Amino acid sequence: MRSHILGAGFYVPPRVVTNFDLEKMFETSDEWIQQRTGIVERRYVDEGMGTADLGYQASLKAIKSAGLEPKDIDFIIFATLSPDFTFPGSGVLLQEKLGIDTVGALDIRNQCSGFLYGLSIADQFVRTGTYKRILLVGAEVHSTGLEFATSGRDVTCIFGDGGGAVVVGPSPEPERGVLSVYLHSEGKYYRDLWVEGPGSIYHPRIDHKMLDEGRHYPRMKGRMVFTHAVKRMPEVLMEALEKENLKVEDIDLLICHQANLRINQFVADALGIPEEKVYNNIQRYGNTTAATLPICLTECLEQGRLKKGDLLAFVTFGAGFTWASALMRW
Ligand code: ACO
Repeated sequence: MRSHILGAGFYVPPRVVTNFDLEKMFETSDEWIQQRTGIVERRYVDEGMGTADLGYQASLKAIKSAGLEPKDIDFIIFATLSPDFTFPGSGVLLQEKLGIDTVGALDIRNQCSGFLYGLSIADQFVRTGTYKRILLVGAEVHSTGLEFATSGRDVTCIFGDGGGAVVVGPSPEPERGVLSVYLHSEGKYYRDLWVEGPGSIYHPRIDHKMLDEGRHYPRMKGRMVFTHAVKRMPEVLMEALEKENLKVEDIDLLICHQANLRINQFVADALGIPEEKVYNNIQRYGNTTAATLPICLTECLEQGRLKKGDLLAFVTFGAGFTWASALMRW
């Protein structure tokens, strides 16, 4: 039995932060950000709204679009690198908000690959018949953890807040649904894109020296990440196509992670996928990490870009390093 996405939804906070707004906070320019990343604006939460809240709003829409109610959900998977608290994870916070009693809530931490890591788990549970209505959520609040100073501008300009959710269940028709998910990671690069503190390896977990050194902010070797992303993303997509005996030309819609528009153009060019088959929304939301793929998927559905029987491909790359692809017959 294949699993399928039965409904999808997303939520982004209403506050729009443009590149011109960032210009007022540190040395940057709209021109630089647009040229290097494609981003024009992103959304930031206001005080009082957390990662689980974004996930909750997205979940309500996903559950409704699946024709279900929260009580029908039998398992929660929550992917985020920015949980509301150190512990517990945001999955149980979401469960409380949805008012669903005692179903399991699993949190996963695979950054930009979080949604596809989560999809692989949901797929296994559905295929084995363990669960039938899994709520898979990706949500991030980046804005409260960024360094709004020139020293953090490379990372700060790319991230935005948002949430996306899908309901995964048995496919209504056997030939439709998730064909395969391929997951990879390479831990030797974990220091090249990370937030170091607070960390349980330190006694205490964070101190004034670490704060003064800005080690609680995300740090990234941008060019190096870029180089790995443009190699790994085509590679893992080809891995999936080859294992399924499919060709690049068979792809009807490609949804890439949204970290940098230039990365996605590079991936599409490398594989010879025409622009009209590739969906991007980084211009409006920046990099929303685990939320990115379900946000893109929901927009594609709203815009009628997916027809029954289309081959949908997802591909992603992020911190860890982690990267992944998935193929779905819509
Ligand atoms: N505005 C103006 N100048 C900037 C900015 C900014 N926002 N950011 C960096 N610069 C400057 C740098 O200081 C540097 O100046 P210098 O030459 O005087 O030293 C110059 O621009 C070039 O800096 P690079 O970091 O080399 O710039 P690059 O062209 O690589 O672009 C970027 C940076 C956009 C971050 C790019 O490297 C990138 O997109 N990398 C990949 C990101 C990614 O895929 N991340 C994975 C997902 S995130 C996750 O998993 C959590």
